[in-house]
Amino acid sequence: MRAQAEHWRRDGLRIAVVPTMGSLHEGHLTLLRAARAAADLVVLTIFVNPTQFGPSEDLARYPRDEAGDLRKALPTGIDCAFCPDAASMYPPGAQTFVTVRELELPLCGQSRPGHFAGVATVVSKLFHLTRPHVAFFGEKDFQQLAVIRRMVRDLDFGIEIRGVAIVREPDGLAMSSRNAYLSAEERVQALALSRGLAAAAAAFAAGERAAEKLLAAALAPIAAAPLSRIDYVELRDAEELSPVEQVTRPVVLAMAVWVGKTRLLDNRVLRP
Ligand code: PAF
Repeated sequence: MRAQAEHWRRDGLRIAVVPTMGSLHEGHLTLLRAARAAADLVVLTIFVNPTQFGPSEDLARYPRDEAGDLRKALPTGIDCAFCPDAASMYPPGAQTFVTVRELELPLCGQSRPGHFAGVATVVSKLFHLTRPHVAFFGEKDFQQLAVIRRMVRDLDFGIEIRGVAIVREPDGLAMSSRNAYLSAEERVQALALSRGLAAAAAAFAAGERAAEKLLAAALAPIAAAPLSRIDYVELRDAEELSPVEQVTRPVVLAMAVWVGKTRLLDNRVLRP
């Protein structure tokens, strides 16, 4: 992969990469189309990265369908799919990790310790292997995007990082590979997340700036969904992810909510 990427670079071609863990849905295809419009060559990476899963998480059952993924990705005009296996990405003795100290800690970092070190490490490796000029990530994983932006800035990767807006099902559910785990009843109750965000955004549009009130609006639909269990629902500075009490600058209302046995993420940025 690296030899190919170096060859493209020598020819003066601009490379875009879209790192994924496969199980592609319309959200990923939107990233691929954005990449297609931004570069000469689009590299899709598919790798279910073991180092970002905790010991009791869903690594073993994470949905995998490489052939189906390639069928979906090809019409977007990708030039290359890089699908390494775990043994080649992490040879025996691998022990070097990238950590983005503070941005890793809140939100998902609380319930998934080590997750972002796994993400930052594998994304660094994928960047070194694919040598992109620009890389695309979904805004649904808001904290992941913040961590990657900071890593790229702090370690001088010289890669442009572009976030792409969340793609939603027609009824508002944010698209996610993990939506496949939901039963019919859980799928209905999963709408509590986007409804909570919409309620908070409506309060914000009506002039509410107090975090406590905005969070209360977001929490109400979730409290009314009996199959849901909150991991976190928080209002944070959109760049530093620090806690916010009054909204005076862009903030993110971010949530992780279990619906049955599936942990779902969603967020909305509120800009005064
Ligand atoms: O968002 C994902 O699918 C993964 O976290 C990523 C960025 C591909 C790293 O494994």
